[in-house]
Amino acid sequence: MENNDGYFDERIAVRYDESAAEMFDPAVVDPVIDLLVELAGNGRALELGIGTGRIALPLAQRGVPVHGIELSKAMAARLRAKPGGEQIGVTIGDFATTTVDGTFSVAYLVFNTIMNLTTQAAQVACFRNVAAHLEPGGCFVIEVGVPELQRLPPGETILAFHVSEARWGLDEYDVMRQGLTSHHFEIVDGRLERFSAPFRYAWPAELDLMAQLAGMRLRERWSGWKREPFTSDSRKHVSVWELPTV
Ligand SMILES: C[S@@+](CC[C@H](N)C(=O)[O-])C[C@H]1O[C@@H](n2cnc3c(N)ncnc32)[C@H](O)[C@@H]1O
Repeated sequence: MENNDGYFDERIAVRYDESAAEMFDPAVVDPVIDLLVELAGNGRALELGIGTGRIALPLAQRGVPVHGIELSKAMAARLRAKPGGEQIGVTIGDFATTTVDGTFSVAYLVFNTIMNLTTQAAQVACFRNVAAHLEPGGCFVIEVGVPELQRLPPGETILAFHVSEARWGLDEYDVMRQGLTSHHFEIVDGRLERFSAPFRYAWPAELDLMAQLAGMRLRERWSGWKREPFTSDSRKHVSVWELPTV
C-alpha cells in the first residue's frame, strides 16, 4: 500500500472510470439503480466504498439522498468534481468501522468491494457497522462474485478473469487463507502498467452468517440486479439482508 488512500490511490483513481468503463454502461448501471430506488423507499442510502460515484450519482439523480464512506481521498475527489457530486456527502474512512450521522433505509456494497476487507473479522465488523446504521426494516445489499474454486484445477493457483488485446487480469488464489490477489496488467500509452490488490473471498453462506451475527436475516438472493434466479451455475450474487422491525 503506497499511502493511506489504500489501493485506490491517485494512480488508480485517475484512470478508474476509463478502466472500468464497461461497469459505467447504462445497461449495467440502470438495473442497479432501479432496485436501490425501490429498496430506499422514502429513506436515505449509504454506499460503502462510494468511489467515483458510479452508482451514487445516478441514484441521487433519481431523488434518493445518498451518503458515502470511502477510504481513498483520490477517488472521493473524482466524485466531487462531477456534476452533482458536491451534493453527495462523503466520510473518509474504513467502511468496516467508520460511522456517520443518521440512519438509512438501504446500505449497499457493490462491485465485489466486500472482498477488499481481507480478514473475516473485518468483514464481520462491516456487517455490524451497517446494521448499526440501518433503520428497522432497512436493507443491506451486496453484489459479489461466487468464489470460482470449481474452475481452479487441483494444484493450480492462477485463474484468468480478463484477457483482451491490451488488458489482462489474473486472480492468484491462496486457498488455505481464503484469499486471492488480483493482478491487473494494461498497456497504457505504450507502457505496461501493473496493479495488484489482495482480497478475501467468502461463500454466500458465510456472508449469511455474518449478517446473522449482526442481527440481520436474508431477504433475497439473486444472480443479478434484474432479480435473475440464483443457481449452482451463478458466477455472482446480489444478496439483500434486512434488519428486522422488532
Ligand atoms: C471497486 S471500487 C468500487 C467503487 C464504486 N462503488 C463503484 O461501484 O464503482 C472499490 C472502492 O472501495 C474503496 N474501499 C476499499 N476498501 C475500503 C474500505 N475498507 N473502506 C472504505 N473504502 C474502501 C476503494 O477505495 C474504492 O473506491
